[in-house]
Amino acid sequence: MLSATRGFDGPIGKASAAVMARMNRDMEIAAADELEVEPTASVLAVGFGPGVGVDALAHRLPEGHICGIDPSAVMMAVATRRNRAAVEAGRVTLRRAGAESIPWPDGFFDAVVAVNCAQLWDPLETALAEIARATRDGGSLVLLTHRWAVERTGPADAWVARIRDLLAGHGVETTATTKPFRSGPGIVIVGSVERAERHARRERRARLTAPPPAGPRARAPGP
Ligand SMILES: C[S@@+](CC[C@H](N)C(=O)[O-])C[C@H]1O[C@@H](n2cnc3c(N)ncnc32)[C@H](O)[C@@H]1O
Repeated sequence: MLSATRGFDGPIGKASAAVMARMNRDMEIAAADELEVEPTASVLAVGFGPGVGVDALAHRLPEGHICGIDPSAVMMAVATRRNRAAVEAGRVTLRRAGAESIPWPDGFFDAVVAVNCAQLWDPLETALAEIARATRDGGSLVLLTHRWAVERTGPADAWVARIRDLLAGHGVETTATTKPFRSGPGIVIVGSVERAERHARRERRARLTAPPPAGPRARAPGP
């Protein structure tokens, strides 16, 4: 996981934190705007980088609790500085961790937000399973990623389809759109966790397709 911090730690990390705080600000704000949660919600920001999104979430949810994970020591320091008052007030909790192993229990969060980091998750399957696990039933998630960052390793449409498929396997129904941002188009995947609904649907389908219960055979009408 720590190899994931390459480019986000050391002097390069410090320089990129400053650039990202400026260039990705609109994406972090847009991701926070996508969330429809109660003011008291607990929200996890994955790959918080310089902490601009954490700050936006903390302002939007004054009675909520914002948690964040990022494996980079530099990002941890920069984001902690940016959110110092909220961290000290216990309203923001930041930890050094990757999306592949989220250090909170099942269903802890009402929502999860990840901006410009899903393309770094390794393996992607594990990170998505972790995000689904840590989000409560009925909760929501927003993944927003630069299209160009995804296209560095392959076609964006296939990447989006794979994410949506994997999330569907965890009971997360999603929609995907592309929106313009300051530094280029961003892919917005919005999801809602519907495990109970999916379970109920499966049960209904099973009832409808099950053979009728065995009972006394209907007698053929007589002559
Ligand atoms: C491109 S930056 C984006 C930062 C910020 N969200 C933004 O848009 O400005 C990616 C961030 O994800 C973090 N990261 C890398 N691998 C990660 C992983 N496996 N899980 C969570 N975060 C990761 C990096 O340390 C870095 O801070």
